[in-house]
Amino acid sequence: MSAPRPPLSRQSEVYLEGMAGKKPLVPIHPRRLEEAARRKMTPEAYAYVAGGAGAEATVQANRAAFERRRIVPRMLRDVSARDTSVELFGRTLPAPLLAAPVGVLELAHPEADLAVARAAAEAGVPMVFSSQASVAMEACAAAMGAAPRWFQLYWSRSDALVESFVRRAEGCGCEAVVVTLDTTLLGWRTRDLELAYLPFLRGKGIAQYVSDPVFLASLADPAPPPGGAAKRTVNLHTLGAFAELTRAHPGSFWKNVRSKAPLAAVQQFIATYSRPSLTWDDLPFLRARTKLPILLKGILHPDDARRALDHGIDGIIVSNHGGRQVDGSIATLDALPAVVAAVDGRVPVLMDSGIRGGADIFKAVALGARAVLVGRPYVYALALAGRAGVHELLRNLVADFELTMGLAGCASVSEINAECLAEA
Ligand SMILES: Cc1cc2nc3c(=O)[nH]c(=O)nc-3n(C[C@H](O)[C@H](O)[C@H](O)COP(=O)(O)O)c2cc1C
Repeated sequence: MSAPRPPLSRQSEVYLEGMAGKKPLVPIHPRRLEEAARRKMTPEAYAYVAGGAGAEATVQANRAAFERRRIVPRMLRDVSARDTSVELFGRTLPAPLLAAPVGVLELAHPEADLAVARAAAEAGVPMVFSSQASVAMEACAAAMGAAPRWFQLYWSRSDALVESFVRRAEGCGCEAVVVTLDTTLLGWRTRDLELAYLPFLRGKGIAQYVSDPVFLASLADPAPPPGGAAKRTVNLHTLGAFAELTRAHPGSFWKNVRSKAPLAAVQQFIATYSRPSLTWDDLPFLRARTKLPILLKGILHPDDARRALDHGIDGIIVSNHGGRQVDGSIATLDALPAVVAAVDGRVPVLMDSGIRGGADIFKAVALGARAVLVGRPYVYALALAGRAGVHELLRNLVADFELTMGLAGCASVSEINAECLAEA
């Protein structure tokens, strides 16, 4: 009996399909991918996804940090067999790659999180469900079989809601909880401000809340708005926005119009979704409520990483939210080495913000990241070609990483280290 043929590489698949006149679904170059998505998306949706805080200096700095480091390939090492897998919390992943938690995916595609869940499961890439998802985590989990998924938590003003989200995540088979620390307040998002557009006010990106029993029960006793009651103007635009948010709400449109439940849900969401008073002293609350690994996302300072370890945290995600929160904040690739040194191998350190190709994954791993998360690129692929587009994008990233690794002279991820890089 002949040995089974190895699966066709993504690269060979593209070229062979080209012989039959078939082109990739989504552009392969990250700039052309973004440009194609920009043409397809509404101006508001594109601005929300692409935008950063302030003058977007940190969005640029994230990329510049990758540009400043160059790979120094080594020759004449047998790289005929290449192993891109890594181990993370007891799971073997096909590559050091996860799909970052991204909220309001309905801005990119009507199937939103569900399309990403299916694509990620197919690719074996863990998906991190967002607190601001457009589809409830239960529906996404049901579409993923046994594929890995994590849950990202925005710590609400209601501890009961935090507890409920975590319980639901456990019930959904999530294998880790990611607490995002950098968004207790929404950053100064210049593009969204210029368009005066915030999706949550239109009932988008609140699916985890309107499907939650604790949140729904809280509607009977609404919290006061954080900045005081806003002056209301009623005109054609507000009526349009009201219709939009009513459509976004689960259940019948007319029943929702009569009950005003969608408006009540948005108001309650705005009043409670985050807690800027959060401190280190709150972490034991979460620690006591789940046995799942807890990761802190948004760590940029080595002292914060050390403090996280003192609190029994299981992993760190070095992130600046893709430059969406503090304009002028340090690039994540620049912050990574000091955090890795502080953690000293005790827990895995992951990173995100600016990952656009296989070389970026390689550079992050070389500086000590166990894995990286990719954000915007998969949203663009989603906008362009739904689930199939996201699947293709994830496979492209893994294929690009595998080739970069092999061509740099590394047969496995464990061979990638700081000596593989030089400062440009
Ligand atoms: C449109 C958009 C929505 C996001 N929503 C969330 C979210 O709900 N929770 C979260 O922790 N991070 C969120 N992030 C940040 C991502 O998880 C990730 O940190 C960031 O996108 C990485 O940078 P990149 O887009 O340059 O890859 C969001 C990012 C984008 C672009």
